[in-house]
Amino acid sequence: MKLDNNLDPQDWDELADYLANFTAEEVRELASSLKSEVWKQVPDSIKQSLFSESLPLIETDLDSVVDQYRSGIRPYRNGNTHPRFFGWVQGTGTVPALMADIAVSTMNSNCGGRDHGAIYIERLVVNWCKQIFSFPQQAGGVLTSGTSASTHLALQVAIFSKLGLDYKKSGFFGVNKPLRCYTSVEGHSSIIKAIQTNGIGSDNLIVIGTNDNNQILLDDLELQIKNDLLQGFIPFMVITTAGTVNTGAFDNFNEIRKLCDAYDCWMHIDGAFGAWLKLADSPYSSLTDGIQLADSLAFDFHKLMYVQYECGGLICRDGAFQQQVFSIRPNYLATHGKALAGGDPWFCDFGLELSRSFRALKVWFTFKTYGLQKLGFAVTKNCRLTALLADLINHSDNFELMNLPVSTIVTFKLKNESDINRNNEVCEQIVTKLQLSGEAVFSLTRVRGFRVIRAAIVNHRTEDKDIKFIVGRLNQLAEEFLNI
Ligand SMILES: Cc1ncc(COP(=O)(O)O)c(C=O)c1O
Repeated sequence: MKLDNNLDPQDWDELADYLANFTAEEVRELASSLKSEVWKQVPDSIKQSLFSESLPLIETDLDSVVDQYRSGIRPYRNGNTHPRFFGWVQGTGTVPALMADIAVSTMNSNCGGRDHGAIYIERLVVNWCKQIFSFPQQAGGVLTSGTSASTHLALQVAIFSKLGLDYKKSGFFGVNKPLRCYTSVEGHSSIIKAIQTNGIGSDNLIVIGTNDNNQILLDDLELQIKNDLLQGFIPFMVITTAGTVNTGAFDNFNEIRKLCDAYDCWMHIDGAFGAWLKLADSPYSSLTDGIQLADSLAFDFHKLMYVQYECGGLICRDGAFQQQVFSIRPNYLATHGKALAGGDPWFCDFGLELSRSFRALKVWFTFKTYGLQKLGFAVTKNCRLTALLADLINHSDNFELMNLPVSTIVTFKLKNESDINRNNEVCEQIVTKLQLSGEAVFSLTRVRGFRVIRAAIVNHRTEDKDIKFIVGRLNQLAEEFLNI
C-alpha cells in the first residue's frame, strides 16, 4: 500500500479495498481467537525487540507495519474479548461499536465544541443517560474516558458547590477548615486518587465500614459526620457505590440521600458497572433504586454496556452549575454566529478536556442497534451467570463464597482453610496457572483478610458452559495444589 509524501494514499479506491481486507482479516482473527487461549504472555524476545526498536526516522511500507502488528502485538491481547475472561471489570466490545470506531476514526471529529454532527450525537447520548437513570431535564453531562475521570470531575463540582465559585479564582488556601468526604471500605481506588489529586488529602477521605451485605453503615456515617462538624471540619460529599469493585454491592441510595440532605453534602454515586443494572430484570434492577437521587452519577459504557474502550460518562443534577465550574473560553474559542464556531454549549465546558474524541458514536451505534431491551437482557444474563458460578462454588468441595453474589461479582477462597498464608498461596497459584494456560482469566482481591479469587462477569460472550467448564478446572487445580 503506497502513501504519498503528503501522507495520504495516491489512490483512495485502492485504500478502500485495502482497508476492507484489513478489517475483514481483523474480524476473522477475532472470531478464531474466541476459541483459543484467553491470554498469552508476550515472549521475552518480542518484549526486547519492541523495547529496543529504534526511532522510525524513515518510512516503512504499510504492509510490513501490518505484518509486525499481526505477529508481534495482536496475538498478545489483554483477553477481555474472550468468553472466559472474568478478571477485574472489563467489557468485551460490541460489533456496532467496532464499526463506529472505524467511522469515528475516518470522521476524526474534535468534540470539544463547535457546531457539527458529532456534538448532537453526544448531546443525545447524554440525554438518553438522563432518561435511563431518571435524572431531571436540567441535568448536564459529558462523556469521559471512564469512571475514574468522571469521579475526578464530580469531586471538583462538589467542592465548588460547597465553597462557592469564587474559589475558582482564589484557590483553596483561604479555607481554614478541612473539607471532609465519606465513602465506604468498598469504595474504588479512583475515589482516593481523585481526593488526593484535587488537594483534599486522603486524611480527609473518611472510610466508613460496611454491613454483612457490604453496604456502607449508615449509622456510622451519620455519627462520623456529626463528630466532624463538632470538630470544625466541613463535611461536603458522600461517595457511594452502585456495584462495588470487590463484591458488587449496592449502597442504600434512598437513605444516603436523606443523610446528604440533612448535612448539606453532595451525593455522588460511582456506578461504573452497577448503574446499568437499572436495565436488568427484577430483582437485579431494584438494586439501583434511588440512583436518580444522586447529585452526580459516574458510569462506564466500556463495562456492562460492552462498548469498546474507552467510554464513560458523568451526569450532574445541576448541569448549569457543572458548566460554570469548568467553563473557560478565551478569545480564540469564543462562540459566534451560526457557523462552525457556534453550537453552544460546548462539551469542553463540562469537563477538563478541550480536544475530545467522538466517543458518543459507539454508544449511539450500540444502543440503537441492540436497543436497551436487548442490552438489559445481556446485563441480566451476566447477573444470572454470576449466580450460577456462585452456586457451583457453594456446592464444591474445595471452595467457599466470600460474598453474596448480588450483581456481577463473586469472590471465593479455599473451603474451611483458616491458614491465611496457605489459602493465599493456593488461590494465587490457581489464578496464575489458569492465566498462563490461557484457560481463563480471574483476578485476586482481599476479603476479610484473605486473598481470594474474584470473578467479574461483565462479558456478553460468556455462556453457562464456560462457567461449568471453569468450575471443573478450579476444582481440579485446587486438588492438585492442595496435594503437593
Ligand atoms: C466500581 C468501580 N469504580 C471505578 C472504576 C474505575 O473505572 P475506569 O477504569 O473506567 O476508570 C472501576 C473499575 O473497575 C470500578 O469497578
